[in-house]
Amino acid sequence: MYMNYWYVAAQSHEVTDKPLKVRMLGQNFVVFRDSQGKVHCLHNVCTHRGGNLAGGKVKGDTVECPYHGWRFNGEGECVKIPSIGKEGKIPGRTRIDSYPTQEKYDLVFCFLGDLPAHERPPIMDIPEWGQEGWRANLLYNEYNASYERAVENTLDPAHNEFVHPTHGYSGEKETYAVPDYAITDVPDGAGFMMTFKSPELKDNTMSKLRNFAGDLEAGAGHVGPHQTWTQIHMSPTNWFHQYTFRTPESRTRTRGYLINMRNALLDEKHDEAIQVRQRVIQDQDLVILEAIEPAIPPVTNTKEVLMPADRTVARYRQYTKEWNGKGWRIDIDAVERDAGKVVYAIPSPARRDSKGWVIDAVPIVQTATKQAAE
Ligand code: FES
Ligand SMILES: [Fe+2]
Repeated sequence: MYMNYWYVAAQSHEVTDKPLKVRMLGQNFVVFRDSQGKVHCLHNVCTHRGGNLAGGKVKGDTVECPYHGWRFNGEGECVKIPSIGKEGKIPGRTRIDSYPTQEKYDLVFCFLGDLPAHERPPIMDIPEWGQEGWRANLLYNEYNASYERAVENTLDPAHNEFVHPTHGYSGEKETYAVPDYAITDVPDGAGFMMTFKSPELKDNTMSKLRNFAGDLEAGAGHVGPHQTWTQIHMSPTNWFHQYTFRTPESRTRTRGYLINMRNALLDEKHDEAIQVRQRVIQDQDLVILEAIEPAIPPVTNTKEVLMPADRTVARYRQYTKEWNGKGWRIDIDAVERDAGKVVYAIPSPARRDSKGWVIDAVPIVQTATKQAAE
């Protein structure tokens, strides 16, 4: 799991003036909306004696700890300590981490890391969002599998034939093979498009999009460690462009926010049938993902046997080495070892400018590249 990316905390409508406890990257956060409607995301642990801020209340533009009433503003500064009275001086060390937030695509994104604004990797772009001729629907999912295995699954063209019976010939076609394909690198990611033979779709709604067997153009890619796109051109004119933002809660528990953009069957009445169909497909993937061993990809590819169809997976794994080298991989082994004894926080941007934080910054995996750079 990597810090220094934007992660979805919740859907916009879920964030109100009632504090919401959200788990991301193995840590707890409190997310709330202030009186101006602005969303704030703070580390959830009160610096007094560990109170659960999300169990408290939003008062004015602050969140109030339920234990002794300390209040923290959206920047994480403690602005009230009832026990010392109005004249008491509030120590600077009481501050907690506050993370940048952004609302986009009806989702609340939090930047979990300490990079200054101009260095932050962007939220994956959805060019079709809000464009005429396109309609969006969201498919939310939570599951017991690693987000990395889920990303790899999206990047894998060979599984469709076997995992999704409606997409392929279920391994019955003697001439089946994944066509050779090329990967295109994009900033912080990679992807591919390919054309292959596929049957017509039998489902009532989907058959309106594809009522013939033959060439189907499709592809997928990733941007950063947790965001993927998929394009399925069911016919020359009927397209699905899907964008998935994953939020790892832990190594093996993930939330997925899939935004499906379509340029056909634009009437709202088709939303439900399309969603039902997509959930069937997701559930087919999850049966596989939740049973994979090891639950997270092995550290070296020599522990698995990759084929040419796995080349985007291999490229993704190369990227993980780059992110490790940047010092962004959370040492979750250390975090789990200390669970119940030490609380950690993902360092927020303010840590770059000030010292004296009560909560320790989360341990980071030290790699040879990172050590050499220091
Ligand atoms: S633990 Fe939060 S106010 Fe005491
Ligand atoms: Fe799949």
